[in-house]
Amino acid sequence: MMVETRERLCAALDGSDREWILETARALGGASGWLKVGLEAFTAFGPELVGAVAATGARVFLDLKLHDIPNTVRGAAANCARSGAAMFNVHASGGRAMMEAAVEGAERGTPPGAPRPRVIAVTVLTSLDRAALEALGIPADPETLVVRWARLAQEAGLDGVVASAREAAAIRSACGPGFLVVTPGIRPRWAASDDQKRIVTPADAVAAGADILVVGRPITRADDPAAAAGRILAEIAG
Ligand code: C5P
Repeated sequence: MMVETRERLCAALDGSDREWILETARALGGASGWLKVGLEAFTAFGPELVGAVAATGARVFLDLKLHDIPNTVRGAAANCARSGAAMFNVHASGGRAMMEAAVEGAERGTPPGAPRPRVIAVTVLTSLDRAALEALGIPADPETLVVRWARLAQEAGLDGVVASAREAAAIRSACGPGFLVVTPGIRPRWAASDDQKRIVTPADAVAAGADILVVGRPITRADDPAAAAGRILAEIAG
């Protein structure tokens, strides 16, 4: 399998069991170029876990969805970079100055000689529909807001966004080819949908313009995680 294809897959290591997380990371053995450490694992084990997961040979996407005043996000972003994460995210709804501060922090925290981690934005959470936005005082169509916030993230100097594959094509046409689109909510046809409601197959996500596909349980709960990752890579490549 080409290195390039592996770099388009991110296995989400969701859980609070440190041994399971590290065993799964080792079992994958680089089959997935990226591994995602999220809030659940990070609040249990902190930045040390990021280093331990990175030591298994994959790049770590630290999914903490930072959202605070710019000064605080700048400092937290620097710590994300110091942890060894190769990518982390912030909420676009924190505003342009906050996103700019995240990039500054990432630069500040990057160890000498290492590349700056990619900073990407969460636009509108997929759990928020039109009615939920209205209740927040934001009377907007979710997809219009996603594209608007993706453009704002790009203007603030961010490297991309996390978004549903259903929104990938609209973001791609608004933001152009160099802007990363990272998509969760992916299910191959052979996998259970679990609690995901609006799922997209790996092939369809790629066709919609997604760069990196985030896949959790179809890989991590498989008897052979590396084999499951391999099947998804074949779908991405095909
Ligand atoms: O196991 P599964 O493939 O459903 O995991 C998907 C991962 O992507 C989880 O870590 C989940 O938190 C994350 N995610 C998502 N939908 C979003 C944003 C993030 O499933 N809209």
